[in-house]
Formats: sequence, structure tokens, C-alpha cells
Amino acid sequence: MTGTDLGIPRVPGARTAPDHTRPDDPSLIDSFGRVATDLRVSLTDKCNLRCTYCMPAEGLDWAPGEQVLSDDELVRLMDVAVRLLGVTDIRLTGGEPLLRPHLEDLVARITALRPRPRLSMTTNGIGLAKRAERFASAGLNRINVSLDSVRPETFARVTRRDRLRHVLDALAAARDAGLDPVKINTVLLRGVNEHEAPELLRFAVEHDYHLRFIEQMPLDAQHGWSRAEMITADEIFDLLGTEFTLTPSPTERGGAPAERWLVDGGPHEVGIIPSVTRPFCAACERTRLTADGAVRSCLFSTTETDLRGLVRQGADDDEIADTWRAAMWGKLAGHEINEAGFAQPIRPMSSIGG
Ligand code: 5AD
Ligand code: SF4
Repeated sequence: MTGTDLGIPRVPGARTAPDHTRPDDPSLIDSFGRVATDLRVSLTDKCNLRCTYCMPAEGLDWAPGEQVLSDDELVRLMDVAVRLLGVTDIRLTGGEPLLRPHLEDLVARITALRPRPRLSMTTNGIGLAKRAERFASAGLNRINVSLDSVRPETFARVTRRDRLRHVLDALAAARDAGLDPVKINTVLLRGVNEHEAPELLRFAVEHDYHLRFIEQMPLDAQHGWSRAEMITADEIFDLLGTEFTLTPSPTERGGAPAERWLVDGGPHEVGIIPSVTRPFCAACERTRLTADGAVRSCLFSTTETDLRGLVRQGADDDEIADTWRAAMWGKLAGHEINEAGFAQPIRPMSSIGG
């Protein structure tokens, strides 16, 4: 609502930024009046799975260690974000965030920041089963676990690793540790797992996990995405409709991207995220920090703003905050996947963070 208060109109359909100067406002407001309060931090670009919609079998050239922000640098930037920029929510992502050494300690340092951000993590779950309790004690609030199949063969086909058991154990451990809700993110791939959609929903309902299907986006390192191969939100709805009755959820959607449906009258719900076919860019509240210290105003940005250099040159908090504000002011109206001439960003999803 800050945008309205400042008299900056929201222009969801506009393609180019309105021509006005940035108001003297401490928040991460952009020129369309959106205010970013949700910070996504990629802790590493490495991963121990090789999901086919994300990266090639041989992996990628990981960022050299000296380019990756240290824990101290990360905490410094997150402190600036919550204290000076109005960030209220932080999500840790990757690559695979659990590959970051001493992550429990980092979680504790983040939850000790004031004002205290709500903290969540998006993970593939490998190795989480043993650590969930410690993350919960360190103050982690919520978790999203990626899971594209509950069948070992399909899981291995999608991720190129035979690790389904680890992920199922991770989900159970997260719930037992009191992380609430435990969400599952699923990407459906044509001819691979799309017919397992109802089975995944049955599994989620049975275990009280919140399942969300995400339309596949053109963010894979190998540029293999094709519109024809993508399972659309409407298709997902129809696939689930073969076994369940879905009715609109009364829950307020707010800035959240998922369209939520009651399953067989409730109380269980399922989310469908139509990132490509019904973009939610006009309600976006996100700002992103890559593991090597770049601010991105959008997953699909083709430009980014380096903060690592500033931090390492000894810049003070106000200088960092101002640079971050300027980066977000230039946020574009939305991704242009559906426009002619769309160009995929050079960074793949695994290096931006989901
Ligand atoms: N399109 C949609 N979702 C993706 N994810 C990874 N790559 C893509 C993609 N190209 C999902 C992962 C994870 C979250 C970070 O995003 O499965 O759950
Ligand atoms: Fe790893 Fe996530 Fe990419 Fe799968 S989607 S390879 S779990 S970073």
C-alpha cells in the first residue's frame, strides 16, 4: 500500500518504467509502486541433485569460493535489509542451501537480527532429516522442500539421483521439528511425471504437507525450456480434477504467487503457481541476493547490482542501503516470457535462487 500512499500509481500493464524520480523513502520501492519486503538469498550455486529442468547431468561451473559471500558478509547485508530497507521476510535458497557449511549457525545469526525477520528455506531436503530439529531450534520458521515424484524411478529420472528416501525422511523430520507449514514444490514435466500429479496430492493430503505445483520457467542452465513442453496451470488443474474436486480457497492471496484451491471441500488446499501463463509480477514483493553478492530485482533481470564489491571496499550501511534502493527502483514491470524477443537471463535458477 505504500505505493498508493506515495501517490505512485501501480501500473501492472505498463512495460516501461514511469518517468518520475524516486521519492525519499527508506523502503525498497520501485517505480511502479511495489515495495519489496521479501528477500531471497542464494547461499550457494552448488547442488547435489541434477534436476533435468534445472541443470545438465555434469553440473555447472560453480562460483569460485572467493566470490561467494562469507557468513559475516551475508549477515551484514541481511542486517541492512531488515534494519534500513524494511525487509520482513528472508528465504534461504540455492542451489542447495544445505550444502552451505555451518548453516545452523547462520540461521541463528539471522533470527537474532532486529527487527526479527521471518525466516524460511527452500531446499531439496537431502541431509535435512538429521538437521531439521537444529534448524527449528535456531529459529527457522518454515520450509519448502522440492519433490517431483513419490516413485523412486520417476524421482531418479527427474533428479538423476536415487535419493527419494532422503527427501521423504526430510519432510517427516521437518514436520516433527515443528516447522509449519511444511510445503512441497513440484514441477511437472510432460511425459515424465505429469500423470503423477493426483498421486502427489494424495500423498501431501495424507501427511498434511502443503503442495504447490509451479509452472516450469525458462531458467534452466541448458536453455531447454519450451512452451509446448511446459505443463500449464490449467492443465495441472485438469489433471488434479480427474481425482479431486477443486474449489477456490477463501484464503487471501495477497502477494503470494499461488492460486489456492480447496481439495474436496477442504480443509486441505493445493496451490498452483502460474508463473508463465498468469504472471503475478504486478504484486511482486521480492528482492534477491545471489551467493556472489549481486542484487537482482527479478528472477528474469538481465542486469544486476554488485554489493560484494561495496562490502569488501568498506562501504558503510547507508551507502549499501542506497545502492540496494536504486537497484530496486529500476525493477521492470514484469518478466516478458510471453513477449516476442524474450531473452532468458544468463544466470540459471540454481545461481539466482528460487
Ligand atoms: N521452473 C520452475 N521451477 C523451478 N525450480 C527450479 N527450476 C525451476 C524452473 N525452471 C523449482 C525447484 C525448487 C524451487 C526453487 O524452484 O523445484 O522447488
Ligand atoms: Fe538442485 Fe534445485 Fe536445481 Fe534440482 S532444481 S538441481 S534440487 S538447484
